[in-house]
Amino acid sequence: MPSRVIGIPTSRTANFLRFQRDPLGFLVDAQPLGEVVSLRTSSMRPTYIVNSPAFIQEILVHQEANFRKGRSSSVLRRTIGDGLLTAEHEVHRQQKKYLMPVFYKERIKAYAQIIREETERLADKMPMDRPVAMHDLMMELTLGIIARSLFRTELAEDKAELAAAVDVTIRKTARTIYSPIIIPFSVPTPGHVQHKKAIRTLESMIYEAISKAKSNPEEYAGSMLGLLMDTKDENGAPISETEVRDQMMTMLLAGHETTANALVWAWHSLEQSPEAEEKLQAEADKMAVLMKDGSASASAASGGRLSAYEAYKELAYTKQVIQETLRLYPPAWAILRESEQPVEMLGERFSVNSSFLISPYAIHRNEAVFGDALVFRPERFDKGASQWARFAYFPFGGGARGCIGSQFAMLEAGLILGILASRFRFRSIPGQGDAVPEPLVSLRIKGGRQMIAERR
Ligand code: HEM
Repeated sequence: MPSRVIGIPTSRTANFLRFQRDPLGFLVDAQPLGEVVSLRTSSMRPTYIVNSPAFIQEILVHQEANFRKGRSSSVLRRTIGDGLLTAEHEVHRQQKKYLMPVFYKERIKAYAQIIREETERLADKMPMDRPVAMHDLMMELTLGIIARSLFRTELAEDKAELAAAVDVTIRKTARTIYSPIIIPFSVPTPGHVQHKKAIRTLESMIYEAISKAKSNPEEYAGSMLGLLMDTKDENGAPISETEVRDQMMTMLLAGHETTANALVWAWHSLEQSPEAEEKLQAEADKMAVLMKDGSASASAASGGRLSAYEAYKELAYTKQVIQETLRLYPPAWAILRESEQPVEMLGERFSVNSSFLISPYAIHRNEAVFGDALVFRPERFDKGASQWARFAYFPFGGGARGCIGSQFAMLEAGLILGILASRFRFRSIPGQGDAVPEPLVSLRIKGGRQMIAERR
């Protein structure tokens, strides 16, 4: 039987340079080459690009225990410590167990109301007469939402400062993950000094919330912070303050830039696709009526007015717009794993310490699966995502390490799109050129996209 692992035809140097310059282009070009593409790097640490859903399922689900996150996690750990995103194996399993309740349905319903309030607050003070960087606008919104919903913390004038600190940590982290040499964090390079300062800014918000929660626990009951304070380890002792800090830092960073980027790509795609925009606006207008007090058409059960969560449930087309945005511009554009022992997958053998690069960005552009793959067409999702093989479409990853916040993210993106689209349309200012993806930790739009809000 022919091997399912194909050696890349280009040289190591050419591959390296191309990846450094244009990782997305490199991964997209490698997608049609084969199920698993060997980059023919050293035999001690071979590297593969994995394109086939069946192999991805092996790595992320069936043989998950044989893999670690490895290098990517060790860099992320500088900022977020040993939280859910970076912990491995048994520690990870325990953490996931105690964090699951943060995203139970009852909590998600309460977060919906916060998302609504924060989005309406932004809508009320939307800058109308000047262009704004959509990236900054969406980042500040989702930062405010995550701080309030998970930490019960209202960000006020410090929001811009925190957002800037987030930006620094993301840029520094992305630069390090994909650079050939990793300088230890203890070396005081100018970049490290700046990164550490940004971490301290974020920590000061986190430690302030922890101290308030300690002195006033009842106020934090029901929040993620309250839950962490009540969590006990296997010996019945409370988890350490460092662990609480790490989980908060993790949720803060994993939980808002991803969604903000998806939203910017969604506004951009809607501007490019007038038909989709019109359909989304019609649905948003209907939702706005249903959410208003006393609407005759709202459900009797909710006293003539839909809660934010019920309103979200009405957003069928908006959900498809988000799914299609996450197909073309998946914020988690690469998922990385390393084998901890020799593994055999689907008849192929891989040695210990092999690296596997899985790119939802490239795989979501597979022409054979998604005809007209580069066209933004939310209607593809009319029949849901299960029409394709598992791991042909997987913006939230999968298996034991799949995204814990996926429902929160869908809810948040849906309500933000719905509420803002019922009042505004966003138009790019001329002269910016095409939107270019910028693959940092998450997939940004280069330059942040300057847009003007027009009242509808
Ligand atoms: C559109 C938005 C989002 C996308 C596309 C996304 C995507 C992902 C992906 C692909 C993973 C798996 C990474 C891997 O396997 O290496 C992941 C993990 C994770 N995400 Fe998300 N995410 C989003 C929003 C969120 C939100 C809102 C939160 C929290 C409130 C969150 C928290 C996490 C955490 C903690 C993990 C680690 C889970 C684990 O290892 O058990 N994410 N996310």
